[in-house]
Amino acid sequence: MKQHIAIDGPAGAGKSTVARLLAERLGYLYLDTGALYRAVTLYLLEHRVPLKTAREEEVSPFLRSVDIDVVSENGMRVFLNGKDVSLDIRNPEIDVAVSYVARMQVVRDFLRKVQRKIALSRPSVVEGRDIGTVILPEADLKIFLTARAEIRAKRRWREIRLRGKNIDYKLVLRNVLERDTLDSERRCAPLRKAEDAVLLDTSSLTVEEVVAKIYALVVGRG
Ligand code: DC
Repeated sequence: MKQHIAIDGPAGAGKSTVARLLAERLGYLYLDTGALYRAVTLYLLEHRVPLKTAREEEVSPFLRSVDIDVVSENGMRVFLNGKDVSLDIRNPEIDVAVSYVARMQVVRDFLRKVQRKIALSRPSVVEGRDIGTVILPEADLKIFLTARAEIRAKRRWREIRLRGKNIDYKLVLRNVLERDTLDSERRCAPLRKAEDAVLLDTSSLTVEEVVAKIYALVVGRG
């Protein structure tokens, strides 16, 4: 059995759903690393750090008083200095601010240690953008999930509609394409497939089919 599974890929490829279901099926820890970037963002906003203009050396001292932990329960719950912030980190203001935080090298270095400590504490499925390349290069199995941009936008559009909001599909597609460019062109830890990662295009697969394929690879039947 493979113990540490890394799942990377662009927004909307189905990473979170797939990683959570796979971890449940295996009885492994599920680590959603985007949630950790969101928790740091919440802390910095609470301390009134001007994220758009702050220099890395101004942000660095704040990180010394950030303690993050996670618990497997309904997927994953995140604790920031002992407080459950799982819901707060999904606020729209975090959605906007988190990309400024995720591109700071001091934050990435800090969270690399946090991610490794949590991920290596027990068998785990770790999901993010740079897990196979930077965070857990020694992972036993690396998966790079993708799907055509139109499909990812359609999934995202449906999700937003399910939450009761009306939004133009073309706008969602434009956002997906923009985020793809930002994610793959940013200086620190750009999104790219690790050389030894298995590429899985989920465009015409159901969630169950994707989970089954990865499960087979974990138990050595893929
Ligand atoms: O997956 P998400 O939307 O919760 O991610 C939040 C932000 O963090 C997003 O801007 C991408 C970034 N991120 C990252 O840079 N590296 C990761 N391993 C996970 C997320």
